[in-house]
Amino acid sequence: MKETRLITGLKNGLKGELAVPGDKSISHRALLIGAISQGKTVIDHFLKSQDCLHTLGALQQLGVTITEQNSQVQVWGQGIEHLSPSAAPLEMGNSGTTTRLMLGLLAGRPFDSYFQGDASLSQRPMKRVSEPLAKMGAEIALTAAGTLPAKVKGHKLHGEKIALQVASAQVKSAVIFAGLQADNPTKIIEKLPTRNHTELMLRQFGAEIITAADQRTITVIPKPKLLGQQIQVPGDPSSAAFFMAAATLVPESSIILKNVSLNPTRTGFLRILQKMGGKVSILNQTKLSENSGDLKVESAKLHAIQLTAADIPAVIDELPLVALLAARATGKSKITGAEELRVKETDRIATVTEELSKLGVNIQELPDGLVISGSTKWQPVTNQLDSHGDHRIGMMLAVAALCIQGSLELQQADAVKISYPGFFADLQQLIV
Ligand code: S3P
Repeated sequence: MKETRLITGLKNGLKGELAVPGDKSISHRALLIGAISQGKTVIDHFLKSQDCLHTLGALQQLGVTITEQNSQVQVWGQGIEHLSPSAAPLEMGNSGTTTRLMLGLLAGRPFDSYFQGDASLSQRPMKRVSEPLAKMGAEIALTAAGTLPAKVKGHKLHGEKIALQVASAQVKSAVIFAGLQADNPTKIIEKLPTRNHTELMLRQFGAEIITAADQRTITVIPKPKLLGQQIQVPGDPSSAAFFMAAATLVPESSIILKNVSLNPTRTGFLRILQKMGGKVSILNQTKLSENSGDLKVESAKLHAIQLTAADIPAVIDELPLVALLAARATGKSKITGAEELRVKETDRIATVTEELSKLGVNIQELPDGLVISGSTKWQPVTNQLDSHGDHRIGMMLAVAALCIQGSLELQQADAVKISYPGFFADLQQLIV
């Protein structure tokens, strides 16, 4: 990642309408579930970002035919039994979702698979997946540090009661994919409810996945007959969040974001922004593959917020942006229970603190969160910011740069391609 971008603080507000790209989590799952179903799955508004293309490429390595026509992606599923071994290691790139979901999927296939990833992914914890899967009979060898590269020796799996140690939809989904192949039901108990796209989509394809009223106990009935479906991917709320933050913070802004997912496991940022005094309203609700709607966002003055562990899963990817909102709000904000941020694409507690400090923000790290004293009068100490190769840090810093006077350089700006290749062009579209 070499690209440096110059970003200039805005004099006028953001204006206009934007349809953000398709949801990353749903795009991954549409490919994976389509690949193990019988018949054609057609995906509309698929997110063509580096992460999702790694899922697509890995499935092709396993013999799945995937084509593209008229901006739709077609997955020609032949059922899970038709996945075939790949002699070459499966290439995961930077994508934790691809890795963890596919570890669960391939643990139960009757062949061996090898996984490799880039430098950042190769530092991220994988025992959180291999350990629960081992209880079901899986055999996954990782490095001594519990990281990639991995070797999966395919096995017959048995259903178990699995209490997950981390609140992670990726880990839950890995166990669900393994549970589909087991010889008896699997019961998963999550610490806190996490995004439920795997459960919702598998049900649409014909699986029996039972979610208890507590929203964190999930039973997977094995060996379902899955049939290819039409998937309309809603706009990614984690991508929309960058523009929601920008329109809130840059005075005299008013924008509309079209067809954004309103799945309650993903709308934590929207709720937090409203609680901080943000002006966000839902205009039209539409039913795509999941509930979605248009969001109107206008500039607002914000006040501080306190977040604890129970708030975190629904806003996990947007926490760098919450830190930015807090850095411009009145008062002292505190985020705790967010230790998961330390094992994302970067240690986001450290990278958010390092980069926002460069802008003169009063921010301190906690082991599991951040304390931020907000102000609208930042005194930057440098004009060079760095994404650290982390897409969400890069986009958060681009939004931060819109709030200052003068220009800033964003190093490794091309990291945005991991989840949002058109981010800078879309931002430009809202700048009048
Ligand atoms: C994701 C789940 C989250 C999130 C990631 C995508 C998913 O990770 O941070 O960007 O698609 O399941 P965890 O489940 O590990 O928190």
